[in-house]
Amino acid sequence: MTSILAQSLTRCYGRMLAVDRVSFEVDGGTVLGFLGPNGAGKSTTMKMLTGYLHPTSGTALINGYDIRTHRRQAHQAMGYLPEGAPLYNDMRVKDFLRFVAAARGLSGTTAKTAIGSVAERLELEEVAEQSIGTLSKGFGRRVGIAQALLHDPPILILDEPTDGLDPIQKTQVRRLIQEMSDTKIVVISTHILEEVELLCDRVMIIAQGQLQLDGTPTEIRSRSRYAGALSLVVDQPQSVASKLSGLPSVSNVEYRAGKLTAFPSGDGDLAGAVQALIQSENWVVREFHLESGRLDDVFARIAGQSESHA
Ligand SMILES: Nc1ncnc2c1ncn2[C@@H]1O[C@H](COP(=O)(O)OP(=O)(O)O)[C@@H](O)[C@H]1O
Ligand SMILES: [Mg+2]
Repeated sequence: MTSILAQSLTRCYGRMLAVDRVSFEVDGGTVLGFLGPNGAGKSTTMKMLTGYLHPTSGTALINGYDIRTHRRQAHQAMGYLPEGAPLYNDMRVKDFLRFVAAARGLSGTTAKTAIGSVAERLELEEVAEQSIGTLSKGFGRRVGIAQALLHDPPILILDEPTDGLDPIQKTQVRRLIQEMSDTKIVVISTHILEEVELLCDRVMIIAQGQLQLDGTPTEIRSRSRYAGALSLVVDQPQSVASKLSGLPSVSNVEYRAGKLTAFPSGDGDLAGAVQALIQSENWVVREFHLESGRLDDVFARIAGQSESHA
């Protein structure tokens, strides 16, 4: 059974607390997104999960293997794309993949098949003879993902997998992640909200080293002050706004970027009351949209709060 169980993972750099008692549990078939501003502790958490960094306290179980006491078994179950560019600039792509295969304990035809399969999957054949240092950013990232996938691990930890890629490359990497997510656990870190919406079954918002919110994108959106609000595009926003404000089911009205948003007061049916008013007033309504909440709103609130504490 594929699983990660993080138990109060904590890491200090000197006196700086980078990751503060992060706990969670995740099973196979999940794309989990670590979402957070720069410096939040995403990479540090990933380094601890993959065994590249010792926790100051706490631990994680990878498929039941404790990263502190069974590092080798835990490591075997994971592929890891570290942040930034891959190392070994002087090595040719195919030699690098051979080297990684050997380090993963693959040899002979098993290694050959594994290398052939990731090279095909990530379309690396054309750069196989090239040294890593001469690759474009997109190819560099694909080599990084290829080495993480080489031993076909059930768990993938990908640190900002689409960072610095052009839009087409981003789409390709996202598609690959989606393809792999049926049975595996894929943990990605990102600060791109769109990526979370597109890819993740579950999101953890991390700020200041702490897990601030954990839920599906829908659950997190519903925490937004926009959840349940009604947005309208109308011809005479000023007069519409003042009439809307008079409804008992409306707490307040905002006008932003050509759009009116009426927030619910909790007293009665907002959408019904607004619709009735539209009919009786004969307003021309270009857009009418009941909001499910906005991820960027929740994220900005949490990231902003943590900034003001820093
Ligand atoms: N090797 C290190 N030595 C000292 N401080 C570090 C080191 N690595 C990261 N940090 C600090 O720890 C905090 C968390 O960093 P990091 O995990 O890289 O965050 P993120 O990946 O979310 O941007 C930041 O304040 C960062 O400056
Ligand atoms: Mg990082």
